[in-house]
Amino acid sequence: MRAVICERYGGPEVLKIVDVPKPEPKDNEVLIKIHATTVNSGDARVRALRVPLGLGIVVRLSMGFFRLKQPILGFDLAGEVEAVGGAATRFKPGDCVVGAGDFTLGCHAEYRCLPEDGALVHKPESLTYAEAVSLSFGGSTAADFFSRAGLKSGETVLINGASGAVGTAAVQIAKHHGAQVTGVCSAANLELVTSLGADHVIDYATEDFAKSGATYDVIMDTVGNAPFSRVKGSLKPEGRFLMINGNLPQMIEAALRSQVIGGVANASDPVFGERPFDYLMRLAEEGALKPVIDRTYPLEEIAAAHAYVDTGRKTGSVVIEVAPG
Ligand SMILES: NC(=O)c1ccc[n+]([C@@H]2O[C@H](COP(=O)([O-])OP(=O)(O)OC[C@H]3O[C@@H](n4cnc5c(N)ncnc54)[C@H](OP(=O)(O)O)[C@@H]3O)[C@@H](O)[C@H]2O)c1
Repeated sequence: MRAVICERYGGPEVLKIVDVPKPEPKDNEVLIKIHATTVNSGDARVRALRVPLGLGIVVRLSMGFFRLKQPILGFDLAGEVEAVGGAATRFKPGDCVVGAGDFTLGCHAEYRCLPEDGALVHKPESLTYAEAVSLSFGGSTAADFFSRAGLKSGETVLINGASGAVGTAAVQIAKHHGAQVTGVCSAANLELVTSLGADHVIDYATEDFAKSGATYDVIMDTVGNAPFSRVKGSLKPEGRFLMINGNLPQMIEAALRSQVIGGVANASDPVFGERPFDYLMRLAEEGALKPVIDRTYPLEEIAAAHAYVDTGRKTGSVVIEVAPG
């Protein structure tokens, strides 16, 4: 099968499309023919080893010191089950599914095996493969942080970076849970963020929310330029700061302050009492979570997709069509 391998840390040019053996499902796994995957900010960060201050050594130790132990990137997939392992009962060949390899990556390829009891669900018929997979990375992250924050109806939420993959999902998920949402983004994306349900939008080029005097129950920073130390005055006394994008010193501070919720989201721990992909696909079917797809590239042009994600200015998700249809 064809797969995209990342030969070493570097620019998009380190990506190569090569032939590798097609995987075979273990007893509890299903083999999925991938139709669509995404290039997300995490893929681009790992490829470039572009990580927040102090985390380079941590990433090298976990992902590989000089080259990636798992050279095939790709967090998520949507596709069709081609075969199942001997003990797998939840899925059968022909099922349309959406899921994530999570930290094991490996989805930038034509096939991937995933455990049937992991982050894998049937794809709603109302969503295309591209739409379903576009909700995965940002949706599972936003839902994880809001769930850990115990987001409640009626609370005020500010999302810094409301137009990215995490931000577009966060706006919609917060609205779904009855919050009053303020989104911070560039002027070009004010309309998009409003269309997703934000009650207020702030153009960061003309207004610094941290100096406005307004206070919020929850502040989510997906950009990394609004750390707790800068925005704590904008939090209500019981407020929570969701540090999606923090460096090592900020993570250490987070561990010492109950107001700060940090760490790394995963697609397996329950969110609001449900498995993340069950939750995301249910919201999508109910019309509460709409896919935001910025661009779509064929697998052959994955290096161009990485270059676009590297700009840090994508809106929502960048989808890779592996097998169109
Ligand atoms: N902790 C975790 O578990 C976790 C999980 C997922 C992602 N992350 C991290 O979270 C970050 C965001 O991820 P993502 O996938 O949402 O990224 P993304 O899709 O690449 O987000 C890009 C967005 O950032 C916005 N932006 C850039 N400069 C900004 C500024 N000064 N103020 C406000 N918005 C600004 C851009 O909006 P405009 O064009 O409108 O400026 C763009 O829409 C990444 O660094 C990623 O590594 C962490």
